[in-house]
Amino acid sequence: MPYEFVTLAVDDRIATLTVSRPDKLNALNDATIAELGAAIDEVRARGDIGGVIVTGAGRAFVAGADIAELSSQTPLAARARARAGQDVFRRFESSPKPVIAAVNGFALGGGCELAMACHIRIASDKAKFGQPEVKLGIGPGYGGTQRLTRLVGKGRALQLLLTAEMIDAAEAYRIGLVNLIVAPDALIGAATAMMRQILANGPLAVTLCIEAVDRGLEMSLDDGLILEANHFGLVASTDDMREGMAAFLDKRAPAFRGS
Ligand code: COA
Repeated sequence: MPYEFVTLAVDDRIATLTVSRPDKLNALNDATIAELGAAIDEVRARGDIGGVIVTGAGRAFVAGADIAELSSQTPLAARARARAGQDVFRRFESSPKPVIAAVNGFALGGGCELAMACHIRIASDKAKFGQPEVKLGIGPGYGGTQRLTRLVGKGRALQLLLTAEMIDAAEAYRIGLVNLIVAPDALIGAATAMMRQILANGPLAVTLCIEAVDRGLEMSLDDGLILEANHFGLVASTDDMREGMAAFLDKRAPAFRGS
């Protein structure tokens, strides 16, 4: 489908979803949030896509929600806006296909929240991260208080949320906010290489790992272990399990079919 503020390109099963409002540092106005929702739904639905890389056009990843739109919001409209954005980002996080953020520049506010809703974050060494909402007299609305805490722990999350400080990629890596740092011109290559590595594995197994981690995080350890064991049983019904093990024993590469 045609988009105005994002682009979606597919090459050899890897989609690249680019937020593209570079004159506003890719700030997320409501229309862009809606298009992100439509784009992740398209990624999830299309059989020719195995996984998606999320990035930004120009010098920013995403510099936050669109402050021009936020400036006039009423309480109920603000709540509805937060819920709509949270719903979209949750569809990234719960995607059965892997989602990698390739963070090319500013990832602030909603941009940091979008990156955190992706399964894995790779950052350019020029990237900057932060949740500067309190500087504007608001708090995060697209999951920042929840996902940042889960990713980096309560103390570091509160430091970032309360000070509104901007941190560089090295610090983001140090605290566990990003998985990998690369040179700017190596960013998409690194994200593509990692995606290729993931897509070479059993797709049902990959999906179940995402689901077990995503759902398990909200469960007791005992319930999470039961979920994991159920998945372990489920994959035992698949041709992919037989193929993966046969390929190992035959000393050849597996040819998974996702069944
Ligand atoms: N919402 C709306 N517009 C934004 C924006 C946002 N979150 N972030 C940047 N822009 C716009 C600027 O208003 C400017 O537009 P203009 O050229 O029409 O004036 C354009 O993008 C370029 O930004 P600018 O501030 O000139 O770039 P800079 O390099 O001097 O500063 C930032 C970059 C990221 C430090 C700065 O833009 C910034 O602080 N942005 C807001 C970050 C934020 O608070 N995000 C959370 C929002 S809830």
